[in-house]
Amino acid sequence: MDINLIGVPVQYGCDKDGSQEGPGRLRELGIKEALENNRNTVYDMGNIFVPNILPDLKYKWHKKMKYLNPLVEINKNLAHMVYCSLSANCFPFVVGGDHSLGIGSIAGASKYFDEMAVIWVDAHGDINDLETSPSGNIHGMPLAASLGVGHSSITNLYYEGRKIKPENVYILGARDLDPGEIRLIEKLNINLYTIDYINSNSLDGAVKEILSKLKTSNVDSVHLSFDIDVFDESLVPGTGTPVKDGLSFDEGRYVLDEFMGSKLITSMDFVELNPALDQDNKTEILCMDILRFIGELL
Ligand code: ARG
Ligand code: MN
Ligand code: MN
Ligand code: MN
Repeated sequence: MDINLIGVPVQYGCDKDGSQEGPGRLRELGIKEALENNRNTVYDMGNIFVPNILPDLKYKWHKKMKYLNPLVEINKNLAHMVYCSLSANCFPFVVGGDHSLGIGSIAGASKYFDEMAVIWVDAHGDINDLETSPSGNIHGMPLAASLGVGHSSITNLYYEGRKIKPENVYILGARDLDPGEIRLIEKLNINLYTIDYINSNSLDGAVKEILSKLKTSNVDSVHLSFDIDVFDESLVPGTGTPVKDGLSFDEGRYVLDEFMGSKLITSMDFVELNPALDQDNKTEILCMDILRFIGELL
């Protein structure tokens, strides 16, 4: 298939230096060839423009949301790039950078499709609003924003109104949810498959249930947002918010195999590599192995 590779070298959403190096580092390591797999055509669309903002200015635009205006601009540009990619029959593959980019990729993809589902594979829910966020970091808010919850500058990004319906959202791998996130997930009745759920049932059961729900619902598209911190902290030192008791390498591969193999996925994010935090290139090697595997499945 034809793939548009879109880099988003942003760290303002996690407020931790280094994530902005993700797309550049993965290009050096051969992300284009990995996704091509001698079969796909990958158009490297380059990076979305990310302005240089001094840390002193992080609260300039909002007292509870760091780097708000720059992140709105970046995500608006990303949304349009994703929308244009889909319009040109290309699969948007968005590589971060931190997970705040989910706001833009979901806005762009959901504008193109009528009824889009989102699978959020992550140790976190990223479903905080500015009041429930413990950090003010916008990478903890993209899923809430896409559901129409939060500050209007991110809920109305690219086009007015919510981007996805709660019944079309699936969270998989969560094990670090804030109290406000749990309240919102319960209130909206979001499909939630935590690590606790996976351990007391099975990963296989969770993945199969998500796929069968997707197939019996009326969705016409599925965005897969993959945060590498879904892996166990021992596997990914090079991510900003690692969490224990995560997926093994084989479990991560299994999840991707099932979801990508289903041919339901129409766009994807790959986020939260922080090369500056990596130890012995462990995380970037894992990322490249996973990206080569994705290349086989696309
Ligand atoms: N829940 C925490 C927060 O809102 C952590 C979010 C981590 N998100 C991520 N994309 N790694 O600040
Ligand atoms: Mn995340
Ligand atoms: Mn739509
Ligand atoms: Mn995460």
